Amino acid sequence: MAKQIHLAAFMNGGPMGTTGWRHKDADPAFMKASYYRNAARILEAARFDLAFIPDALSMPRSLGNSFRPAVEWGSGTPRLDPLVVLGVMAGVTQHMGLAATISTGYHEPYNLARELATFDHMTDGRAGWNIVTSFQDAEAQNFGEAKLPPREERYARAEEVLQATTQLWDSWDDDAIIQNKPTGVFGDPAKVRSVDYKGKYVSTQGPLSVPRPPQGYPLLIQAGASPRGRDFAARWADIIFSSNESLESAIAFRADIRKRAASFGRDPDQIKLLCAASVVVGETDAEAQAKHEAFADLVHPLAGLSRLAYHCNVDLTKYDLDGPLPTLEDVGVQGHYEEVVEFAQREKLSIREIGRWYGARTEGNMIGSATTIADNMEQWMERGAADGFMVQATHLPGAFTEFADHVVPELQRRGLHRTEYPEGTARDLLGLNRPQRDEWMNRAER
Ligand SMILES: Cc1cc2nc3c(=O)[nH]c(=O)nc-3n(C[C@H](O)[C@H](O)[C@H](O)COP(=O)(O)O)c2cc1C
Repeated sequence: MAKQIHLAAFMNGGPMGTTGWRHKDADPAFMKASYYRNAARILEAARFDLAFIPDALSMPRSLGNSFRPAVEWGSGTPRLDPLVVLGVMAGVTQHMGLAATISTGYHEPYNLARELATFDHMTDGRAGWNIVTSFQDAEAQNFGEAKLPPREERYARAEEVLQATTQLWDSWDDDAIIQNKPTGVFGDPAKVRSVDYKGKYVSTQGPLSVPRPPQGYPLLIQAGASPRGRDFAARWADIIFSSNESLESAIAFRADIRKRAASFGRDPDQIKLLCAASVVVGETDAEAQAKHEAFADLVHPLAGLSRLAYHCNVDLTKYDLDGPLPTLEDVGVQGHYEEVVEFAQREKLSIREIGRWYGARTEGNMIGSATTIADNMEQWMERGAADGFMVQATHLPGAFTEFADHVVPELQRRGLHRTEYPEGTARDLLGLNRPQRDEWMNRAER
């Protein structure tokens, strides 16, 4: 059988992207539960592996040190809390994984472990955690700090948070609850233990008040692209989400991650790399291209620049907008910065032009007819660039509907995508092993 393509859906807890709200078919009701229930039903009918919600703990305010562009152009705001939104989606689905982005920088291990373990129980093993370290000073400022700590420190804290959180999940054996009504014994105290984790950044005693999650650990997802971020992902992640400017850079990225994973003693096949794929589907390639261009025309250049400044955590207004992008030190999201540099150097763009492009940028070269998109996806899989895709929609729900109605049947016809769900957890859908108790020891930094 052909290698199966794993499909995840990237959807905001709010309007999509920079200008998704302006699309003529965009549903404006993104503050209503019905908007998310509708998307969830579409994705599960299309047999997606996972729905994924990104997040940040602030309004974007890097451009001109103001939230004004974000509000005025609707770029990257509002953002509802992902776990709450996913709880709504869980109520109308039964199989698909549901992954929330939560920062290690501004959460404590106990809260994290408890919320995600509860969500995993309430969904019969469908919870996922996109582990991020936060990337904007505006986030730090919402928690009493003037600036984000340096990248090294952010990852050092993330490492501690992961060690503590996984130990909290492991604080109960899978069979610790007995519930013997005649004897009155509820649980076996020998199968529950304290954690007593004491780190430089976080400490917790445990045990957790929630028994071990059905998946052992919820799906661990990561998208770091700096060398430190790649090492962290290669040790901890079950799924890596990457966004690459070309097929070649995606191939190099996956090879690098697999090499790092093997050097840490992990089976590289137990890490699924999902590449960002912004899909625009048409009857023909020309029609899809025209649809994309019409959408790109809606993007205000300042909205694109606001998004770029937000991802880079740099106020780009301090540079000449008609000049080239200077080399930026210590950017927020290394991965996005690298893609921008690759594209801008190739196309010789000024900062203003980069902003216009960035606001409507599409990833993974997935604009075309269903056949073209399926061909491209197949090619990315065959060339070793991906284990699947994080499908990004320009707007909701229409972009997912078009993908589900046209591309998914084409992938199914080629035997590349399931037609029915198997029984089991999100880990089972993705071909990922359930971590045994104390698996954290194999993933922790040594
Ligand atoms: C495709 C992609 C998606 C990301 N999504 C988020 C997100 O939703 N929230 C967030 O705080 N960081 C997000 N990040 C940031 C990273 O997870 C990471 O914390 C950040 O890039 C800093 O690490 P790095 O410099 O190693 O890349 C994303 C990064 C990439 C490449």
